[in-house]
Amino acid sequence: MQGFSRVQVAECPMDEVPPEGLRKIWRWAVLIAVGGFLFGFDTGVISGALLFIRADFALNSFEQGSVVSILVLGAMAGALLSGRMADRIGRRRALGLEGFVFLVGTAVAALAGGYGMLLGGRLLLGLAVGAASATVPVYLSEISPAKIRGSVLTLNQLLITIGILVAYMINVAFAGSGDWRAMIAVGAVPALVMVAGALWGIPESPAWQLARGDRDGAHRTIASVTNDATADMLVERRVEARRKEAAKDGGQAGWHALLRPRVRPALIVGVTLAAVQQFGGINTIIYYAPTIIEETGLNAANSIYYSIAIGVINLVMTVAAVWLIDRAGRRGLLLFSLAAMTVTMVLLGLAFVAGWASVPSLIFMVLYIAAFAVGLGPVFWAIIGEIFPGPARASGSSASTAVNWGSNFVVSLVFLPIANAIGQGETFWIFAAISLAGLAFVSRFVPETKGREFGEVDADLLRRFGRRPPESTPG
Ligand code: BGC
Repeated sequence: MQGFSRVQVAECPMDEVPPEGLRKIWRWAVLIAVGGFLFGFDTGVISGALLFIRADFALNSFEQGSVVSILVLGAMAGALLSGRMADRIGRRRALGLEGFVFLVGTAVAALAGGYGMLLGGRLLLGLAVGAASATVPVYLSEISPAKIRGSVLTLNQLLITIGILVAYMINVAFAGSGDWRAMIAVGAVPALVMVAGALWGIPESPAWQLARGDRDGAHRTIASVTNDATADMLVERRVEARRKEAAKDGGQAGWHALLRPRVRPALIVGVTLAAVQQFGGINTIIYYAPTIIEETGLNAANSIYYSIAIGVINLVMTVAAVWLIDRAGRRGLLLFSLAAMTVTMVLLGLAFVAGWASVPSLIFMVLYIAAFAVGLGPVFWAIIGEIFPGPARASGSSASTAVNWGSNFVVSLVFLPIANAIGQGETFWIFAAISLAGLAFVSRFVPETKGREFGEVDADLLRRFGRRPPESTPG
């Protein structure tokens, strides 16, 4: 980690960006967020593909479950590995490498001759999904000026939801022929776009370049969206801030930086939101909607259409979040979302326990998805790109993302057994209680990051944890 000293791998040091520059930044952001698309696609496509794989390879129920969940385990490992990698080789190369692993994983899974090879392919896909899910928020955060940073970061979740929806549609398109290999192979297209984007379409994060002492590189990137004079001034300002900070405390990057007491509040916020996002039950609906819908008495044969309806709501409400996040702010969206998730889960549970008709259950389920999609879904991924100081940003995102995948794994593993043991409705009430606890946590500990430079976010965060903010905290 030589040369990666206590730094301002800050929020993007560009605030006076003209409209053409902003358009360019949006283009970069879309290419980066293709990683989010693959996240959604690869987690979504398996539900439809599995119906045919099961028959082809004569899989028992454990084997079927393992094909689904090995991706989630791989993602946890990928998320853990990615922080160090993104600090070492840079955000751009890390993303390119992840795209390459997506390609290889897609090829192995689509061409699998049997169960073992399929598992291998899904594991590789998991590594890529997890690593990309931790790299994308950091990269997006470091290329976006504060005033559009929320929307840019929300693009990640937007592409996750588009990926899920496209996967459902691909499942429908190939359901007639039962060609599960084609379903999986479609993922090669975005993976190629991701590799090409990283090679030719996106510059390295200027914040990371400055941290490595590459002033010229950072200058070039900033000047390409502003102009030479502004780039001079911004680079100078950052270097100076960095020098002062390094003189005060010679800290390190990576896991060491993450473990410093100063960074602990950010870590607590990151991993708690990660756990609440999953233990609130979202993926029991996203992954098991057809099974739940069947229990309500609706015809399971139409389940794929219900899934598509859920995917559309998820997408539409995420679009609303992209628009709202830099206006209403992160806290407002989170508080609203968690409150609405609590209420809809209580009602969904009630519908099951009281044995109401199937239509109310479906309505509560859709409302719950809407509540998640407008807040906790996107805001979690945005906030982990925003709350960590530069040296701890990649590792902080990595740790929070790994907790997110770990929690995802636990919930998907225990949901059906718990629902069978204590009842479906009662299980939904547990999710409601977790969202309520999440609401209390957010209201007490999560700082507003909207439009703020890192120093202000950090001071707010420290105050919420009862610590005295330092005089100045450049990112
Ligand atoms: C979550 C995923 C979930 C997706 C649904 C993401 O924010 O991390 O686990 O499947 O939202 O849209």
